Amino acid sequence: MSAVLKTVNLVKIYSGGAVPVPAVRGVDLEVGEGEFVAVMGPSGSGKSTLVHMLGGLDARTSGEIWLDGRRVDTLSESAWALLRRRKIGFVFQFFNLVATMTVADNVELPALLAGASAKDARERREYLLGVLNLTERADAAPGQLSGGEQQRVALARALANKPSLLLADEPTGNLDSRNTRDVLRLLGEVHRDGQTIVMVTHDARVGSLADRVVSLLDGQIVDDGRITRRRPSARAGAGEVIDLR
Ligand SMILES: Nc1ncnc2c1ncn2[C@@H]1O[C@H](COP(=O)(O)OP(=O)(O)O)[C@@H](O)[C@H]1O
Ligand SMILES: [Mg+2]
Repeated sequence: MSAVLKTVNLVKIYSGGAVPVPAVRGVDLEVGEGEFVAVMGPSGSGKSTLVHMLGGLDARTSGEIWLDGRRVDTLSESAWALLRRRKIGFVFQFFNLVATMTVADNVELPALLAGASAKDARERREYLLGVLNLTERADAAPGQLSGGEQQRVALARALANKPSLLLADEPTGNLDSRNTRDVLRLLGEVHRDGQTIVMVTHDARVGSLADRVVSLLDGQIVDDGRITRRRPSARAGAGEVIDLR
């Protein structure tokens, strides 16, 4: 399995305040192509800081980040922007939708920027808004939506150009159980399509959908476990544990 994403001794120290805050303290992480990794851990353990660095939104203090075999922690902001447009979808806790555009245009924009035809961008948008129960909200402005609706629009937008890597920070944080279920179904589909997913979550249901759970504590990985599942079919012997990957 080739590594899509790799970090080497990645460190982030916030030094803007009176006291420097070590948020990520030497993370070595390798994510294989098509893998679905859930990042879990208590509040303040460095989860958001880590995924922000992986998407080039927060500069590292030291260490290395590699994407598809290429070193990226040394890239300029504009090179990062291009990389995100081409291959990374990002879902944040704060949703950064374009306030002056409709929901539909927000979702189509990344696909158009990535070079999709107007027809393909529209079809992809219709599909994503459909599975996320947002079809009726297509012509609304983001400011007219609830927090949970904005969160789902942000996910639709992140998936619009079928990024090879999806980074998400608590994408189900504001959702009720029905919408959580629909988001999880979509993530499962995206995963089956072969997209690589790195997702911060405190939600055990999301964690159980992943291939692997990486646990952070005080900015360090304290546990990194691949999940083995029990096969429900009768073909497996009772209690036999198999790895579905
Ligand atoms: N912009 C910032 N400036 C200073 N400290 C920060 C900043 N962002 C996060 N931190 C601190 O870094 C640590 C990790 O935060 P964060 O990555 O947000 O954790 P998590 O997402 O796991 O809750 C916390 O101690 C937090 O207070
Ligand atoms: Mg966070």
